[in-house]
Amino acid sequence: MSQNPILLGLNIDHCATLRQARYRENSRHCGQMVEPDPVALALVAERAGADGITVHLREDRRHIQDTDVWRMRKCIQTRLNLEMACTPAMLEFALELKPETACLVPEGREEVTTEGGLDAAGQRERVGEIVEKLNANGIATSLFIDPEPQQIKAAAEMNSPLIELHTGTFANAYYDLEQRKNELEKLRRGIELAHELGITVNAGHGINYINIREVRQLPWLNELNIGHSILSRAVFSGIEEAVREMKLRMNLTLA
Ligand code: PXP
Repeated sequence: MSQNPILLGLNIDHCATLRQARYRENSRHCGQMVEPDPVALALVAERAGADGITVHLREDRRHIQDTDVWRMRKCIQTRLNLEMACTPAMLEFALELKPETACLVPEGREEVTTEGGLDAAGQRERVGEIVEKLNANGIATSLFIDPEPQQIKAAAEMNSPLIELHTGTFANAYYDLEQRKNELEKLRRGIELAHELGITVNAGHGINYINIREVRQLPWLNELNIGHSILSRAVFSGIEEAVREMKLRMNLTLA
């Protein structure tokens, strides 16, 4: 089993959600009194130990804006992970932006599996084409998928170097012990299969300071993408403390 420390990708979207709640009409004037600034938050989070910054530029631009992503690209010192829909417009944007990684996520209902990940197996042609173009341009792709064998095999067939397993179902089942155990087992089997197929495994959605205790015991995890829980804690403790505490909990068994 891998003994490498698990990396933290901080999902910064909710900082922009808060800004947009007040400044939806003029969020382009970042740097004036439009706050909070997700780029400033990302820089402090990096200083506290975040290994990468994740942004989801949604098609409806409900939180992160184009200008945020471009500023992030210029300013951050770690890695930029762009979560994106499988559309021609987002592909064009990503090819210009050149993030280190691009994670393909579902946005339309028809792209979603029963549990909420991208239905890569059901849309091999469409997703595969985007994976190929991104990888050919030096952007490592990841697919946000459920821990289902057919989805993981589809990712391998498309030569996606990374996947991000959807941990939301596990997180939602957390307080039902039987269901929690089942969901954790599904994740474990999914990770083992992906590892056998040579795919690097990330995970994310719904991970918090409590359920990290089980998540960190899963084998072969490369990186966790966490947003809501860390930003919620940051409201009380500040982002540096929130990032440090999560990183500590992610790797407790290694300490
Ligand atoms: N990974 C993906 C693909 C996501 O869409 C999200 C949520 O935006 C996250 C990780 C982070 O989830 P959470 O905010 O629940 O930590």
